[in-house]
Amino acid sequence: MTATIIPRAGAAHARILGVGGYRPARIVPNSELVDRIDSSDEWIQSRSGIRTRRWASPEETVAEMSIAAAGKALAHAGLDASQVGCVIVSTVTHLKQTPAIATEIAHRLGAGGGRAAAFDVSAACAGFCYGVSLASDMVRGGSAEYVLVIGVERLSDLTNLSDRGTAFIFGDGAGAVVIGPSNTPGIGPVVWGSDGSQSEAITQTIDWNDLRDDREQEFPTLKMEGQKVFRWAVWEMAKVCEQALDAAGVKAEDLDAFIPHQANMRITDAMIKALKLPPEVPVARDIAENGNTSAASIPLAMERMLESGEAVSGGTALIMGFGAGLVYAGQVITLP
Ligand SMILES: CC(C)(COP(=O)(O)OP(=O)(O)OC[C@H]1O[C@@H](n2cnc3c(N)ncnc32)[C@H](O)[C@@H]1OP(=O)(O)O)[C@@H](O)C(=O)NCCC(=O)NCCS
Repeated sequence: MTATIIPRAGAAHARILGVGGYRPARIVPNSELVDRIDSSDEWIQSRSGIRTRRWASPEETVAEMSIAAAGKALAHAGLDASQVGCVIVSTVTHLKQTPAIATEIAHRLGAGGGRAAAFDVSAACAGFCYGVSLASDMVRGGSAEYVLVIGVERLSDLTNLSDRGTAFIFGDGAGAVVIGPSNTPGIGPVVWGSDGSQSEAITQTIDWNDLRDDREQEFPTLKMEGQKVFRWAVWEMAKVCEQALDAAGVKAEDLDAFIPHQANMRITDAMIKALKLPPEVPVARDIAENGNTSAASIPLAMERMLESGEAVSGGTALIMGFGAGLVYAGQVITLP
C-alpha cells in the first residue's frame, strides 16, 4: 500500500516585514585610491557615480555585520529572533569553504531558539533577490513562518587596489530583511536566470586550488571585463525589469521606488531610460556613498530610502540584482 504524505500548508502571501543595514565605520574617499591606479576623483565619479565607499575593519567581520543588520531588521519587523525559522545569507566573501556562515549567524542571533535552518547562497550581486525569492516561497510553502535574508560582503578583502577597472568600485556592508506571512501579496513573481557563457566576465583571478598548488601566487582578487558587464547590464537587465513588472501586473509609473543593485550609477541611469521610468519615481542612489556592496546593496539602499523619507512603508518598489555568474533576479515588492 502506498502511504499518503500530508502536505504542510503555508501562508496565503508573503511580504518583507522589516529591513536593517550595517555600514562599516571607515569611509574611504576616491582620493585615497587614485594614486595607485593613476586616476582622479572626477574620472571615478563620472564613470561610476561613486564618491566614497566603506571598508570593514578586522572586527567588522561578515558575521558581525550580518548580526547587526539582522538585529535592526528584526526590530523593524517587531519580531524576536526566536520566531525565525530559517536564515539565508547571500555572500561571496565568506572566505571559508565550509561551514556556511549562516549557521554561526543563526546561532548567535538565537534564531528559532538556536535551531533555525541556515544556509548560504552564492549568487553574487543578485544574491539578495535570490534570497527574497526563496524566502517568499518558503513562507507560502509552509517550510518557515519567518525567514531572515541577509546580504553581506567584505569585498575589500578581494579587491586588487592596483586594478584600474575594479579598485574603486567595491565596498563592504550588510543588509537584512525579515520575510513573513501577509494577508495581501507583498512579493511579486521573481524573474531570474543565469548566463554561464559569460562566467569569466566577473570572476576570481585564480581559484583556491591554484593557490594551494603554488603558494607563490598572489591571493585571489576580483577581476572584471568592465565594458562587457556594462553592456549586458544595460541591454539585458532593463528587459528583466520590464518582465518583473509585467509578471506582477505593475506599471513603471505605479512604482513608489526603483531599487536596482547599486552596481554603477551609469547603469542605473541607463535602466531608468530604457524603462521610461517617470522622473517622479524615486531611484536608489546609495552607490554614491557606499560603492558597490554586491549582495548587500539592495537592502542597504532600501533602508536608506525609507529612513530618508524618499520612499514610504507600504509603497511598491521594483528590486533587481545582477552580477557575477552572470546571474540576475528581480521582483516587485511592497516596502516594509
Ligand atoms: C569599469 C568601468 C568604469 C571602466 O570604464 P571604461 O570606459 O569601460 O574603461 P576602459 O577600460 O574602456 O578604458 C577607457 C579609458 O579610460 C581609462 N581608464 C580605465 N580605468 C581608469 C581609471 N580607473 N581611472 C582613469 N582612467 C581609466 C583607460 O585607460 C582608457 O583610456 P583611453 O581611452 O585614453 O585609452 C566601466 O567599464 C564600467 O562601469 N563597467 C561596469 C562595471 C560594473 O558596474 N560592475 C559591477 C557589476 S555587478
